[in-house]
Amino acid sequence: MKQAILDMESYAKENNIPIMQKEGIAFLMKYIKANNIKNILEIGSAIGYSAILMASSNNDVKVTTIERDETCYLECLKNVKKCEFETKVSVVFQDALELNLAEGTEFDLIFIDAAKGQYKKFFEKFKYFLAPNGVIITDNLKFHGYVGKSETIESKNLRQLVEKIEGYIDFLKTNEEFETKFYDVGDGISISTRVENEK
Ligand SMILES: C[S@@+](CC[C@H](N)C(=O)[O-])C[C@H]1O[C@@H](n2cnc3c(N)ncnc32)[C@H](O)[C@@H]1O
Repeated sequence: MKQAILDMESYAKENNIPIMQKEGIAFLMKYIKANNIKNILEIGSAIGYSAILMASSNNDVKVTTIERDETCYLECLKNVKKCEFETKVSVVFQDALELNLAEGTEFDLIFIDAAKGQYKKFFEKFKYFLAPNGVIITDNLKFHGYVGKSETIESKNLRQLVEKIEGYIDFLKTNEEFETKFYDVGDGISISTRVENEK
């Protein structure tokens, strides 16, 4: 397992695949353990690094992770098998925005770590599958230090992406249904809880 994780870190570096920063995943694993989280939905598997590490936080943690890129999906499956985590991690090959989850499906934690421009759509779509005391966690809210400085960015594409993340942060801050706390950990993490069921 330890070697498989190190191999994933090298593979991600060599192939330019963005995986969670070490500080961020350590924070998430600690949170999962401390809050007795059991069922996790991850949007954006990449090669399975965070899914496998989240699943390893506790014996009874199960992760469903969604990936739309075929190469990443196949690599993720390979890594889940290598870690013998087939019963703990289910990998779904689909665009998360097109996925239909069965009615009544519930997760204790929904982790958003996919296309940055679509964070709000993921949040709005998957909040209906959150258990009553569940949390929605989002990664990359600092986006490598660009967030909060969008007007100084010259590249139009990058600026638009950063503006979307800034828009998402405003959406979280002004959301009446969820209360969100922001953590300066890794690339910036938020934890959103339903207002009436605050943890
Ligand atoms: C930042 S990476 C995920 C990293 C992973 N969570 C980790 O830390 O190991 C984002 C992944 O989300 C996938 N993705 C982006 N938009 C998606 C969507 N709409 N549905 C499913 N996967 C998506 C990308 O293909 C990419 O592999």
